[in-house]
Amino acid sequence: MFRSRRVRQRWMATASAVLLAGAAPAVAATPPAMPSNPAVDQLDWWKHAVVYEVYPRSFADSNNDGIGDIAGIDRHMDYIQALGIDAVWMTPMFPSPQADFGYDVADYNGVDPQFGTVADVDHLIADGKTRGVKLILDFVVNHTSDTHPWFVQSRSSRTNPYRDFYIWRDAKADGSPPNNWTSIFGGSAWTADAKTGQSYYHYFYPQQPDLNWRNPKVEQAMFDAAAWWLKRGVYGYRLDAVDAMFERPDLKDNPITSGTDAFGMPNQSRPNNDNQPEVHTELQKLRREVIDRYPGRVLIGETWTDNAADLVRYYGPKNDELQLPMFLNLMTLKTLTAPDLRARIQAVESNPVGGWPCFALSNHDNRRVAGRLPLPPGASTDDMAKLTGALLLTLRGTPILYYGEELGMVNNDPTRVEDVQDVIGKKGWPLEKGRDGERSPMHWDASVNAGFNGGAKPWLPVGPDYATRNVAVQMDDPHSVLSLYRTLIAARRTNPALSGDYVQVAPNDPQVLAFQRSGGGRKVLVLLNFDDKPAEIALSGVSAAKIDHVIASNRALPSTDGVHLDPLGVFVAEIE
Ligand code: NOJ
Repeated sequence: MFRSRRVRQRWMATASAVLLAGAAPAVAATPPAMPSNPAVDQLDWWKHAVVYEVYPRSFADSNNDGIGDIAGIDRHMDYIQALGIDAVWMTPMFPSPQADFGYDVADYNGVDPQFGTVADVDHLIADGKTRGVKLILDFVVNHTSDTHPWFVQSRSSRTNPYRDFYIWRDAKADGSPPNNWTSIFGGSAWTADAKTGQSYYHYFYPQQPDLNWRNPKVEQAMFDAAAWWLKRGVYGYRLDAVDAMFERPDLKDNPITSGTDAFGMPNQSRPNNDNQPEVHTELQKLRREVIDRYPGRVLIGETWTDNAADLVRYYGPKNDELQLPMFLNLMTLKTLTAPDLRARIQAVESNPVGGWPCFALSNHDNRRVAGRLPLPPGASTDDMAKLTGALLLTLRGTPILYYGEELGMVNNDPTRVEDVQDVIGKKGWPLEKGRDGERSPMHWDASVNAGFNGGAKPWLPVGPDYATRNVAVQMDDPHSVLSLYRTLIAARRTNPALSGDYVQVAPNDPQVLAFQRSGGGRKVLVLLNFDDKPAEIALSGVSAAKIDHVIASNRALPSTDGVHLDPLGVFVAEIE
């Protein structure tokens, strides 16, 4: 039905190209107000949602101490609502010594004073409720902080009732660690503890000891911790590091692979402490015994897997595990190509249990997408941000946007080790520069510190392009990245095709990812040129005249017999 051919000339030079009679202008006008989401009160609201990841430290600093906070998020709820966000996933704000910026939790049922109070979270929940914005928290299931009272007890003696909350073993006879496992944050995964003469296991930093989920008391304590926030009105959790929750009981050595990691240790594969079968049974239990007791709650998974088959397992055999295991592989690809994307999307689309897809392109651990991928000559960061945003917002599934992605923010990486905040970067420099770059403060406006706060030095420097790339500038510009995001999010709320079926078109096209969405008797055609050359898509089955309405477009020009797309071109239109 659809075919494309490579063309060499840029579309500006295609003098004969004519706009379709009756078609909307190529760039849609700024949407005046975000329509409400009709699915807001449905139990499966999360299938119709756009989720926004907020890293509280970096979003907005209401008390001007250099660190973002919960009141800062609340202050920007108007914006979050205007963007069309249905749920905010707030990364950890629990009491923590901040060794891993909150992913080292010292109390699951509290709030770190640097971020605010439990009352601030309650207020955020209540404010969100009036606006149709639900709150999702991060549940760090694999480990606690070494300052958590459970660990303080556990390390105090071999006979302490909390000893078995964590994983303790004797060193080998020669004094070396109990096995060869390495921490993904560098060094051995075991730390010797002088007090009791044993070592404890930590998949991440030594300050993040792994919980022993084989202990029923750990399971119960964690289920209780999860229920505590659900009762307060939190709508679910993003589960941190789920793949690492269990270890093979005999703690067998991992196979060594070639080369060394960024911290100088021999590389290894992790068949004995990643993705163990017990992870799935435990998550099914969490879903059944905690989450499903509270209507409409959702589990999102930080589900790193090597392939789609392993990812699909996280839906559970009866779609009874995680509702939204995140498809994370797109975050680490160095390039995106139409054939590769098509195959990856199809693998998730065709999952046997009917699990709902969930896509994300950047987060607080991975480089921001608009600056990560190579730009073809003549294309800009904005073009890349529009292409990747259009992909995320038109696929069937729930997109998770990382704050600032909707502006086309790029990484602001440290250039000197002495500036690095993230311990991975301090330890791994220069091979591993850490994750500061993707965590720089949100760009609100052109004022001091991009409007992040009132002028105190932010914990990380603001990106150098903030004066021109910020919410205030982009909100009123119909050609901005933000306007394209808002246009597509508004379309998701009003056009049932965008929550309907996904069908590949032009399935062999080497340049353009082309698909159709259909539902409620309507159809939307999506054309995304991932190539560094222009492309022509001939609309043979759907005649050009049947394009009713161009929803969003960038570097694309419809003509009487097709659509011309420049490199990174985007064309999203309703068709008959
Ligand atoms: C994944 C989180 O996203 C990351 O930021 C953290 O460092 C590790 N898990 C450990 O909790």
